[in-house]
Amino acid sequence: TWTMVNIVDEQIDRIREQIGEHGHAICGLSGGVDSAVAAAVVQRAIGDRLTCVFVDHGLLRKGEAEQVERDFVAATGVDLHVVDAQKQFLDALAGVADPEEKRKIIGREFIRTFEAAEAEVLKKAMKRDPSVAGAKVAFLVQGTLYPDVVESGGGAGTSNIKSHHNVGGLPDDLEFELVEPLRTLFKDEVRLVGEQLGLPAEIVWRQPFPGPGLGIRIIGEVTAERLELLRDADAIAREELTRAGLDRDIWQMPVVLLADVRSVGVQGDGRTYGHPVVIRPVTSEDAMTADWARLPYDVLERISTRITNEVRDVNRVTLDVTSKPPGTIEWE
Ligand code: XMP
Repeated sequence: TWTMVNIVDEQIDRIREQIGEHGHAICGLSGGVDSAVAAAVVQRAIGDRLTCVFVDHGLLRKGEAEQVERDFVAATGVDLHVVDAQKQFLDALAGVADPEEKRKIIGREFIRTFEAAEAEVLKKAMKRDPSVAGAKVAFLVQGTLYPDVVESGGGAGTSNIKSHHNVGGLPDDLEFELVEPLRTLFKDEVRLVGEQLGLPAEIVWRQPFPGPGLGIRIIGEVTAERLELLRDADAIAREELTRAGLDRDIWQMPVVLLADVRSVGVQGDGRTYGHPVVIRPVTSEDAMTADWARLPYDVLERISTRITNEVRDVNRVTLDVTSKPPGTIEWE
């Protein structure tokens, strides 16, 4: 729409002014809509003086890393730097069960990873454009939205409900200046901007996924084995939702692993003692409030049957019927 064209043009001018003629920016891609659209806006403004960094922290869903590397690069031609940080994140999260502590650790490791990538990114940039020599990669692009700002306590009259990794979880000694082109926008507006910039539907209409990823969907300590269980269960749930044609009706559907809980079950002739997962389908306009989604029983049945049959160690599927408020969308 005309308004979105305006917002994009206005942001592009503002970004050019902030970054200057020789500044170089990096942008962390999470695989989500927000960071993809933020990166696309900044790329429009400063071209190949933007490098995207994709941190594979091992907390992603099945196929997600490949989607960023393939679809986003294909759509934008952006310069992408991939960092495999799976072991680093798992080590940092070892023994940690507290939600806020997990969020802060994940946020901190993200920033540390960017800082470590800075030298390498600059080297590449100088190869393309010698005038960058001596300059610093001083700008960090973030896909922060208006609700993130509000919920992380970003200003007067706001509350601190959770430390969203891209706002409240930043370390005090941050050495980048932030560029946040989506800071005044809601999700639906971000999607319009994404379409305006020609990003593919698979990216623009992707359901939201939190920056801290599956790390905050495992209730309890995050381990490689637990991640694998959750990744498999989540992939099945998403597959069935897509097959039912409900992707756009459902705002998002977290699958949560209650990793410290076990319950008795029976499969074949044998007793099982496995973990429950929680399915949390919600409808929402902007994630500030949400209603639990009345998924058709046959879809729930297929999800439940497939998860308990196909995911070893998960023997129970439960449904979260709590709206927001009082529940938040994510469990942590
Ligand atoms: P809650 O759980 O607070 O979530 O109701 C609201 C929306 O935000 C997403 N979410 C996050 N997104 N970084 C993000 O980029 C985060 O740290 C984060 N935490 C929650 C959540 O998936 C929902 O869409």
